[in-house]
Amino acid sequence: MIKLLLLALCVSVFFGGGLVADACPRKVVILLGAPGSGKGTQAKKLQAIFNLPHISTGDLFRFNIKEGTPLGKKAQEYTNAGKLVPDEIVLDMLFDRISKDDAKQGYILDGFPRTIPQAEALQKRLEDKDLVIALNLDVSDDTVVKRISGRRTCSVSGEVYNIYFAPPPKERACKEGELIQRPDDRPEVVQERLKVYHNQTEPLIQFYDRLGVLVNVDGEKDPGAILTELTRVINEKIESVR
Ligand code: AP5
Repeated sequence: MIKLLLLALCVSVFFGGGLVADACPRKVVILLGAPGSGKGTQAKKLQAIFNLPHISTGDLFRFNIKEGTPLGKKAQEYTNAGKLVPDEIVLDMLFDRISKDDAKQGYILDGFPRTIPQAEALQKRLEDKDLVIALNLDVSDDTVVKRISGRRTCSVSGEVYNIYFAPPPKERACKEGELIQRPDDRPEVVQERLKVYHNQTEPLIQFYDRLGVLVNVDGEKDPGAILTELTRVINEKIESVR
């Protein structure tokens, strides 16, 4: 009863300087969608709007690969080939990340989960009060291929551009570094990533639909229109539990 009341008021209880009860629903925003559907583009904007950390398993792997860590060495052969990194490696890394202080009020997941076992493992970690919002960015394979072939990333800032859709402004783009193409964005790897997506990740749409937390969003629109729609949906879901 007390928990319900706290939940309704969304209050946190502190005692002796420490947090003893936090009834505010943790917001778990899951961005689903094919490679290149725009998950990273949207997550970066959403993190600022909702003040939630953007957690991208792909970015975590790329960071570890760049730093040459043991995790990076294990992941590299899979990412370069467009295959999924084995679940146990992903889960350890992801659970470590979401246990950090900045993720206590929630987080935005980009590129996770990617398999049914990953989704089930996440569900087990969540509590009843958590607010799960799964947003599927719906795009065609043709759009994926075009977007990925145009993607370029700044080697220093990590800023993502697209030579077709979001070209870097000449005067200030990636001054200290160079614009590079991700190794897994080569055409032959993209085809493998799409195959892996349809076989192993697309079934998650049904998984979250069955849980009643899925919202499909048209990912073919321009980034601004998609952001407006995602923001509207997330706000609506948050309001619904207030
Ligand atoms: P990851 O980095 O997650 O790759 P991905 O899911 O394939 O997604 P992308 O980063 O390619 O695309 P995105 O949807 O973020 O699109 P973006 O916003 O950049 O994973 C890489 C690898 O790591 C995997 O292949 C796997 O090996 C491994 N991995 C990661 N997570 C894993 C997991 N959970 N389990 C196992 N293995 C895992 O946009 C793409 C381009 O399009 C950009 O240039 C952008 O500017 C442009 N763009 C975006 N939106 C629009 C729009 N609306 N209109 C026009 N252009 C747009």
